[in-house]
Amino acid sequence: MTACEYQIGLEGIPAAQSRISYVDGKIGRLEYRGVPIEQLAEHGSFLETAYLLIWGKFPTADDLSAFQYEITHHRRAKYRIRDMMKCFPESGHPMDALQASAAALGLFYSKRALDDPTYIRRAVVRLLAKIPTMVAAFEHIRKGNDPIQPRDDLSYAANFLYMLNEQEPDPIQAHIFDTCLTLHAEHTMNASTFSARVTASTLTDPYAIVASAVGTLGGPLHGGANEEVIEMLEQIGSVENVRPFLEEKFATKSKIMGFGHRVYKVKDPRAKILQKLVEELFGELGSDKYYEIALELEKIVTDKLGDKGIHPNVDFYSGLVYKRLGIPTDLFTPIFAIARVAGWLAHWREQLEANRIYRPTQIYIGEHNQPYLPIAER
Ligand code: CMC
Repeated sequence: MTACEYQIGLEGIPAAQSRISYVDGKIGRLEYRGVPIEQLAEHGSFLETAYLLIWGKFPTADDLSAFQYEITHHRRAKYRIRDMMKCFPESGHPMDALQASAAALGLFYSKRALDDPTYIRRAVVRLLAKIPTMVAAFEHIRKGNDPIQPRDDLSYAANFLYMLNEQEPDPIQAHIFDTCLTLHAEHTMNASTFSARVTASTLTDPYAIVASAVGTLGGPLHGGANEEVIEMLEQIGSVENVRPFLEEKFATKSKIMGFGHRVYKVKDPRAKILQKLVEELFGELGSDKYYEIALELEKIVTDKLGDKGIHPNVDFYSGLVYKRLGIPTDLFTPIFAIARVAGWLAHWREQLEANRIYRPTQIYIGEHNQPYLPIAER
């Protein structure tokens, strides 16, 4: 083994060999299991994509209907989990509620039979099925209402929107939401996936893996950026205010949320697809001033920072879709988590195929041989 140079943030250091997804950041290409994201977004569904990611091959029609059936019939969350959520403070962030609830699933289902394919399959089904239910349940519980029970006759995306709004969504809106889930399902060795793989490498249960990944996804430099984009657009308030807002950001070298990426040095391909979805949704529901603000922002930021490789990332347009669907801003990152569970579970399975516990090293830069100082002398 050759020693490699230390890189802050592990930039450029491979942390696994993987067949799950591929990114070429120079040309803006993203593939899941070798299939371009544009094709999956146009022709596939989220559950078909989740199957492809997790099991490594496209489902046949029978495979897909069996997978959908199992997920549909595992959507309900135990009443004890719902009761636990009633004890959470209503001002708590839904990502924290989700992290706690995902970990709590392990109390009910963890047997750690990692060499048993039935255990693996059930864990995959339960996590994909129950995470949306728990996100929607907390939304009602924090308002003092009972959660809405899932409906078996609705698709994955339509059921989530139904559980959130107690109203069956229009099919076009459900389709757009499903495509958003596909776009967020997986993205190589990002921070939360790395967290999932490190946790998986200890051979712990998949609920602990998902809980650790949810905690990592919540930070503003990762999945939390989509909320901050909407807060920024609301703060700007009008197209005329975009330039003065950005001039102050450029002068203070502050980061503009929804821009920049460790890997992409061109516009994120998911941002391009999401932008089309925003336009489709606005065609259906009517436009919104925030899209005009976002377009002006993209133009000015790209003129100023495009040469440095700073372009819109996935979080820039996703929030506009969710906002137009009437979803509260602090649910945007939990929705990212609903989708990313597919990628985390794919990495869990892949990690188990050739596992060795993650145990990197460090470069110690502290002191040596320091004397013990009695408390009175400190
Ligand atoms: N606005 C302005 N300048 C930026 C931005 C931005 N959003 N992002 C990077 N830069 C500049 C940064 O100031 C630095 O400039 P300099 O070399 O002059 O000091 C240079 O670009 C490199 O930035 P970095 O922070 O070292 O890059 P990184 O690869 O460590 O960070 C990032 C990547 C995504 C954390 C960062 O671009 C960022 O903080 N963006 C804003 C938050 C955001 O939108 N996050 C969502 C990421 S995509 C989805 C996800 O991963 O969940």
